[in-house]
Amino acid sequence: MQKLVTLALLFAISRVAVADTDTELIKKGKYLSEMADCYACHTAEGGEPYAGGLAFKTPFGTIYSTNITSDKQHGIGDYNFEQFDKAVRLGVAPKGNLYPAMPYTSFDKITHEDMQALYAYFMDIKPSPQPNPDNDVMFPANIRMGLKVWNFFNHSPQKYVMDNSKSEVWNRGNYILNSFGHCGECHTPRDMTFAMEEDKHYQGAMIGNVWAPDITSKTLVQQGWSTQDVKDLLRSGSSRKGTVVGEMYTAIYHSLSKFDDQDLQAAAVYLLDSDAEVAGKDLVSNTEANQGEGYQLYMGYCAGCHGIEGKGKPNFAPGLAGNGSLAHDNSINLLVATLYGIKPQHYSTLVSFDDMPAYGDKLSDAELTELVNYLKAAFTDSPVRYSVAQMSSLRKEVEENQKQATH
Ligand code: HEC
Ligand code: HEC
Ligand code: HEC
Repeated sequence: MQKLVTLALLFAISRVAVADTDTELIKKGKYLSEMADCYACHTAEGGEPYAGGLAFKTPFGTIYSTNITSDKQHGIGDYNFEQFDKAVRLGVAPKGNLYPAMPYTSFDKITHEDMQALYAYFMDIKPSPQPNPDNDVMFPANIRMGLKVWNFFNHSPQKYVMDNSKSEVWNRGNYILNSFGHCGECHTPRDMTFAMEEDKHYQGAMIGNVWAPDITSKTLVQQGWSTQDVKDLLRSGSSRKGTVVGEMYTAIYHSLSKFDDQDLQAAAVYLLDSDAEVAGKDLVSNTEANQGEGYQLYMGYCAGCHGIEGKGKPNFAPGLAGNGSLAHDNSINLLVATLYGIKPQHYSTLVSFDDMPAYGDKLSDAELTELVNYLKAAFTDSPVRYSVAQMSSLRKEVEENQKQATH
């Protein structure tokens, strides 16, 4: 009798232990799915979580993300682990090869252990019976077989390989940003076939009408980012070096703001390529630089919000002194903000901004040239200055991109 009770007790304990590891695994999977931002791509505006239907414009046409809830008919509820793993890491789903808008060229580096946690989480998600819309892509890209060819040339699945010359924290940063974080999907340029050019890792690329900037450690360090600046921006969307707009705002809102402290630190260590805390540089503010027409325009249109010294005001307008959008040689984002303005953005309970007005109708090409040259001289170390002809052609390019992005 004594023995039986003990056995029953043991059994009960091991049942609880199993349930605990399951919950732990699901919890871990939820965290990893946030790091990978599965939600942002697989949820339509106002739609049910993970039920898909968000449209992606690609050079081949419009494709839609799919329902990845545990619904057995329209979702992935009847995928076994191998099928899930193949779809997420290799881009090969039971229905055929997936379009590379699903970032499997980054997710391929996710470890087997982490894939198991993701699988446990997705099998536990509330099912949604939402059917998948048909994709609208051009011949020959509409043939999923064609993607087999794309995969043959462009995708040789990689495993994450530790770099033993670097610290464990740096390696964690490299692993999470280049697998889950899929930062390169936006920040690494693509070649003619839409594949990431790995020899130009993080050197910057156009995403719709904005430029996902060069975020190589060399550039970030040269532009004076500190460890704290990087952590502030990734966690809250706002830092001493400015705020973010467009797709980066979404990435921060749904994903980066959920990184735990250790992973945030690892991301900063990897991005700045330094285990030691980087102090960063003082913000550039040479407002004596030039008191010509550009200065007058700045004082008339911009200084009321961004400050005479370009220091900004908390929760009102970001500083322009030392701002990331101004410091790059590429001025596309600076022009997009100035010509079209920025809608109000809410970053967190502590940080939110009202809108920035649009100046496209107010500034001639000559005035825009003077203004931008003033901003560069006053608030950055960049030697870049524009002639009116160069500025007109850059403005045309920005207007063309804007038309296509909002079309
Ligand atoms: C950048 C956008 C993006 C992100 C991030 C993303 N997906 Fe996707 N995913 C897509 C698109 C688009 C498709 C549809 C591709 C197609 O139909 O060829 C897709 C397809 C899939 C499929 C195939 C479903 C089927 O019909 O067989 C699975 C599974 C999937 N995603 C899971 C995930 C998981 C899990 C994550 C996070 C770890 C994730 N996705 C993150 C865009 C994304
Ligand atoms: C009414 C206040 C206001 C005025 C006037 C204004 N801005 Fe802004 N500006 C803002 C706000 C608010 C933001 C931040 C929006 C956000 O990130 O959510 C901003 C952001 C920017 C950014 C992007 C900075 C970053 O960190 O991403 C640039 C560049 C910029 N402004 C340039 C200008 C220029 C040039 C002028 C004058 C022609 C100007 N602004 C006038 C309020 C203003
Ligand atoms: C969906 C596209 C997309 C993804 C994914 C993405 N970014 Fe961005 N990122 C952008 C865009 C666009 C900007 C420019 C926004 C701005 O300056 O207002 C940006 C800006 C930044 C900046 C500011 C740079 C500067 O000079 O001001 C940093 C740092 C950054 N991203 C880091 C990351 C990291 C790290 C990841 C991966 C975890 C990531 N991004 C993922 C699109 C993306």
